[in-house]
Amino acid sequence: MILVIDFGSQYNQLIARRVREHHVYCQIEPPDIDLAKIHALNPEGIILSGGPASVYEEGSPRANRGIFDLNSPILGICYGMQYMVDALGGRVIGAEKREYGFAELTIKEPSGIFTGIEKKTKCWMSHGDTIGVLPRGFKTTASTPSTKIAAMANVSKRLYGLQFHPEVVHTLEGKRIIENFLFHICNCNKSWTMKSFARNAMEEIRAQVGSRHVILGLSGGVDSSVAALLLNQAIGKHLTCVFVDNGLLRQGEATRVRELFKRHCKINLRFVNAGKLFLDGLKGVVDPERKRKIIGRIFIEVFEREARKIKGAEFLAQGTLYPDIIESRSAFGGPSAVIKSHHNVGGLPKKMNLKLIEPLKHLFKDEVRLLGKELGLPDDLVWRQPFPGPGLAVRIISDVTPSRLSILRKVDAVLLEEIRAHNLYRKLWQSFAVLLPLKSVGIMGDQRTYEHIIAIRAVTSEDAMTADWARLPHDLLGKISNRIINEVRGVNRVVYDISSKPPSTIEWE
Ligand code: XMP
Repeated sequence: MILVIDFGSQYNQLIARRVREHHVYCQIEPPDIDLAKIHALNPEGIILSGGPASVYEEGSPRANRGIFDLNSPILGICYGMQYMVDALGGRVIGAEKREYGFAELTIKEPSGIFTGIEKKTKCWMSHGDTIGVLPRGFKTTASTPSTKIAAMANVSKRLYGLQFHPEVVHTLEGKRIIENFLFHICNCNKSWTMKSFARNAMEEIRAQVGSRHVILGLSGGVDSSVAALLLNQAIGKHLTCVFVDNGLLRQGEATRVRELFKRHCKINLRFVNAGKLFLDGLKGVVDPERKRKIIGRIFIEVFEREARKIKGAEFLAQGTLYPDIIESRSAFGGPSAVIKSHHNVGGLPKKMNLKLIEPLKHLFKDEVRLLGKELGLPDDLVWRQPFPGPGLAVRIISDVTPSRLSILRKVDAVLLEEIRAHNLYRKLWQSFAVLLPLKSVGIMGDQRTYEHIIAIRAVTSEDAMTADWARLPHDLLGKISNRIINEVRGVNRVVYDISSKPPSTIEWE
């Protein structure tokens, strides 16, 4: 495995993904990870990530200096390189000119991590500090016009530094550089596959659970579905999944989940039909945050009640992913403002006195999809677009009523049918409809109409942190609009949302 020491770079997750793409396991740990833990992890190599600090500033993050005595190859990237220089007796200074963006890299030593790379190539820079004096035993291996020491190496000690970011796609040979580090310098094996992950994860789950019992809240989304399949294959009858139908799901969704997991996968599934409770709780509620809080509260009540019926349950399994784990413990991010209170089951274990099992906590989303495929999850679930926990309630502006839900479900089904038919479903991060309970005047068959407005939202995104509105073909938009107005009673106007995130958000509420 490769250990990444996280100095707070916005790219640190990318580093881990790049390593894993080469089928080498990689784990991100904070700078204060102690040496004993590093020994236990026994990494083939260490990567020191970039970060926003300056090494010469007081309080800048530092790793345990003992890492340099482990005899492990180390690659420092940006701040990681500067930290290495500082720790080993060189000098880091503020650069005269900040360098941000593309730079032409000239390689002086086409060996080691630069093996097989053209002498001149493009790299991606983002730094304000630079190396003034190299530590003893190091030499400069590459430069750019404004950064003399853009890369350095101490070959005999297998220590390497890069001022630029090999993990971002803009560094043209970045993939090759990482590959060289992994296989020429660290001698890693390509053993990280979802098959081996599944095998190990199942063994661990069996050892942890023994003859006890696990509950899992199944939402029908990718993460909880993959977690359910994995646990089911590991411990079968010791798992009970609970699916809460909150009455705010898409058309046919509840039935689909039941068919797939109960009939097809033979999972022990409890199905709770709680739609009325949620709709009663939401009656007359217009404020988006109140809606979210009410739905979260009722979900916990329903789930707890159901869980209490499951005798001897000691564990709660969740489909938490690696980015959540890294972000939640980030020493650098600080608490951010609550834009929307997200609904998930995070608060459950504390209240319910259950031990947590999070079998996907080391995986990125794309790996979870691959694992899903490995475990036999059907393609349409593996590639399912995200759907918010509070469901259609946050896509009905104003209060939620059965008739509004019914209109939105029909509209949404038409929209998705067209998106799928045009092969766009997988390319879009999300595509959905929003019901605006405003009314506008229309004309249908010589008659005046006075009906609801539907907004279509389709976005592209990598991770939902930012998103752009999708440039859907005009003909497709025309067809969607036409079909919705003709096929769904209660709608006489369709508009397209052309806002990106930020400043808008993906969901409307
Ligand atoms: P926003 O609207 O904040 O959404 O740009 C970002 C992503 O999160 C999804 N979303 C949720 N997912 N529970 C979830 O599990 C929620 O309460 C929730 N609210 C928004 C949203 O669909 C988008 O993918």
